[in-house]
Amino acid sequence: MARIVVLSDIHLSPTHGFFWENWCTARAFANAASADAVIVNGDLTINGADSDAEIAFAANALTSLRAPVMTLPGNHDVGDEPPGQDPNQIIDADRLARWGRFFESDRWTLDVGGWRLVGVNAQLLGSGLAREKAQDEWLDEKLEAVARRPIALFLHKPLFLELPTEDVVTPACIAPLARARLLDGLHRYDVRLIVSGHLHQHRDRMLAGLRHLWVPAVAFAAPQSHGGDSRCGITVLDFSSDSLQVTIERPRALVSHDLAAIKGHGRYQFLRDMPACPPSHEG
Ligand SMILES: [Fe+2]
Ligand SMILES: [Fe+2]
Repeated sequence: MARIVVLSDIHLSPTHGFFWENWCTARAFANAASADAVIVNGDLTINGADSDAEIAFAANALTSLRAPVMTLPGNHDVGDEPPGQDPNQIIDADRLARWGRFFESDRWTLDVGGWRLVGVNAQLLGSGLAREKAQDEWLDEKLEAVARRPIALFLHKPLFLELPTEDVVTPACIAPLARARLLDGLHRYDVRLIVSGHLHQHRDRMLAGLRHLWVPAVAFAAPQSHGGDSRCGITVLDFSSDSLQVTIERPRALVSHDLAAIKGHGRYQFLRDMPACPPSHEG
């Protein structure tokens, strides 16, 4: 048996501290949870795609977690795959290099509770960058190497919104071509679970033999509903040799912030454009 705590979309920033108290609540929960590891599933920052200071701040915050920490980047950390939410923040080699200066990697494997957990950089999928091809090969190798273990895949973005066959290109999920390629590969192995963040809502479905778990955000509630529960939360995964228990925890102190209200109902397009309001406490 192994316990993994998933903290997704924590959105920390040294200059914009809207979500710092939620982070402190999530950290206290994770540190009391006897976790074997904490997975931080992307969007560690608000503006890490353009700021060393943001990535450094988030990396430092994660050092106060007691369990081993496995991190994956999100669109706020290394930019979006094209066409993206913001044409000025598309993933590129410089942004990946910034991530690489603060974190060991943007992909990993972790063998726990009889399962193999594999984390990949969702922002590379459909990017056309050299690292996308390298990641594809790496993933294939890591799945191929698993003998008789169920596999869970972690990445920042969900593979699709409603159905694996949908063909709309949207920054809300992985692009259709990249998704089809990934699913083709996954179906060759005993992949049972796909865990994603990004949409800031909890939804849990079985589709074509795969369990697609959208985990809630730590920072703020979903600004747009895609059929899930928009409230903030923390995900606990208890893996045993052939089964999995999923629990969504919502400590009372975790506030499901309304993003539109924080941004002045249209006054600011991006949180990074807002006047500075640093976190009340650091560390
Ligand atoms: Fe996010
Ligand atoms: Fe995101």
